[in-house]
Amino acid sequence: MHTNTVQSSKEWVKYLAIAMICSIVSIDGMTSAIAEGDPVMAKPTPVIQEVPFVVKSESVASRLGGFFGIHAFLRDRALPAILADSELAPFFGNLSETPSDIAKCFAMRLDHELGGSSTKSGTHLESMHRCRKTMKAIHKGRNIPDSAITKFIQIVEEQAAMVGVSPYDIKAVAAVLERNRAGIRNK
Ligand code: HEM
Repeated sequence: MHTNTVQSSKEWVKYLAIAMICSIVSIDGMTSAIAEGDPVMAKPTPVIQEVPFVVKSESVASRLGGFFGIHAFLRDRALPAILADSELAPFFGNLSETPSDIAKCFAMRLDHELGGSSTKSGTHLESMHRCRKTMKAIHKGRNIPDSAITKFIQIVEEQAAMVGVSPYDIKAVAAVLERNRAGIRNK
């Protein structure tokens, strides 16, 4: 009888221990589940909201607002900043076209190169100016050195960052400008 009692109390201790282990494990599981679900306790994960009926823009040009967005950016931000720079301004003396035409031809070229619908060159503007074809023809006789081209691109990048263009798109714009370096340098 006595041995039986000892035996069964040993069994009880065993069951109790198992029950306690189970409850510790489940409480731990619950707290981590709560932590994951609770916005205060959980680690913040960035939420990117997809708007299902808006198609993602596929070209850099469209993300920049096509010709109109690029033109407004050049006219109101990039070109004024370039003309305000004491190293670059002297290259813009004795223009053969108006600053307004430069902004339009430049915007069409950039839009075209970034996947937009503008024609790259040859367009007749209202002023009767016709956007020229080659970088060499446009910049001929201006003797623009490498350092000025580098600064020009840098200013465009800075201005784009200031108006909130994404780093990826800024890189794409800079790459297009960079491609023209050889045609502009020391002509
Ligand atoms: C980096 C890439 C560059 C591109 C893609 C570019 C493109 C253009 C375009 C499309 C025009 C208008 C041309 C037309 O009417 O058909 C233009 C004009 C002009 N660009 Fe650039 N340009 C670049 C860099 C520079 C730099 C670095 C300078 C000087 C520091 C410069 C100085 C000028 C000047 C002075 C004009 C007006 C030329 C004239 O009146 O005859 N450009 N550029």
